[in-house]
Amino acid sequence: MQIKTVGVLGCGLMGSGIAQVAAQAGYKTIVREVEQGLLDRGFGRIQKFLAGGVEKGKVTPDERDKALANLTGTTSVDDLKGCDLVIEAIIENLDEKARAYEAVERVVGSHAILVSNTSSLCITELAARTKRPDRFGGLHFFNPVPIMKLVEVVRALTTTDETYQALFGFAQSLGKEPITAPDKPGFIVNRLLVPYLLDAIRSYEHGLGTLEDIDKGMQLGCGYPMGPFTLLDFVGLDTTYYIANIMFEEYREAVYAPPPLLKRMVLAGRLGRKSGQGFYKY
Ligand code: 3HC
Repeated sequence: MQIKTVGVLGCGLMGSGIAQVAAQAGYKTIVREVEQGLLDRGFGRIQKFLAGGVEKGKVTPDERDKALANLTGTTSVDDLKGCDLVIEAIIENLDEKARAYEAVERVVGSHAILVSNTSSLCITELAARTKRPDRFGGLHFFNPVPIMKLVEVVRALTTTDETYQALFGFAQSLGKEPITAPDKPGFIVNRLLVPYLLDAIRSYEHGLGTLEDIDKGMQLGCGYPMGPFTLLDFVGLDTTYYIANIMFEEYREAVYAPPPLLKRMVLAGRLGRKSGQGFYKY
């Protein structure tokens, strides 16, 4: 199938990044947020990123202008009616997502594909909450979306080959490197990344070293772009805690169990960069 117009539900950190890369790849892109204020913040983020790209010589002024011209914001789901693909990047809550899919399915054509950018919910369960489980899948992007090359393409039990191929091709058309991931908590990347991050916290609790030394060790010793605590603050401690709990619930293996310190930091509101304090202060 031909994808020409892309809808994005949610203009937060992930939604705005996804909308940006879709618009930069030449798709007419319509982003829907629940309120104008949130939409304005998301568009501000996109403009800032594109301006930064021009400054760094990664994006030409013409490419920036074309990307912005391809982008439309709305607070009304009705405006998604011409979309061939709708990518949902809203709150990680099954019922909220199901409500959003219901609203989208009332306006889009029967050919349209629906996907979720969820990092932790079951794609088959989400698909089952729509009227098109065959035209549903997962596209899991990574933060910061315009920079990170990877997209995990996740098939629900019900996703057809045609839908899967359309999604894989779409990810490639964004200039991304897609990989096929199973519909199991954590997919491929978080399944390996989250136990590593949790182990870093556990090791810190047991006195392995200072935050700075552990971060420096993994950065300079292994060539990771960020040490585990810088990355935890970047991803968000609440997000990590949420994903870890879902993984632990499904796999029942100790490596996915959130350490006590992580829970307490979330309870104290130390969520990382977004709250001004996590393992480090910002
Ligand atoms: N527009 C275009 N390109 C830009 C840009 C912009 N506004 N800003 C930066 N870039 C480019 C730079 O030019 C550079 O390109 P180059 O490698 O070709 O030179 C590249 O992006 C890196 O930028 P910087 O050098 O300015 O920044 P850093 O080197 O500090 O890298 C980072 C920043 C990319 C965030 C890096 O620290 C990193 O990769 N961190 C790890 C991020 C990560 O692990 N993300 C995944 C989190 S897990 C997740 O998202 C899953 C979820 O489910 C939890």
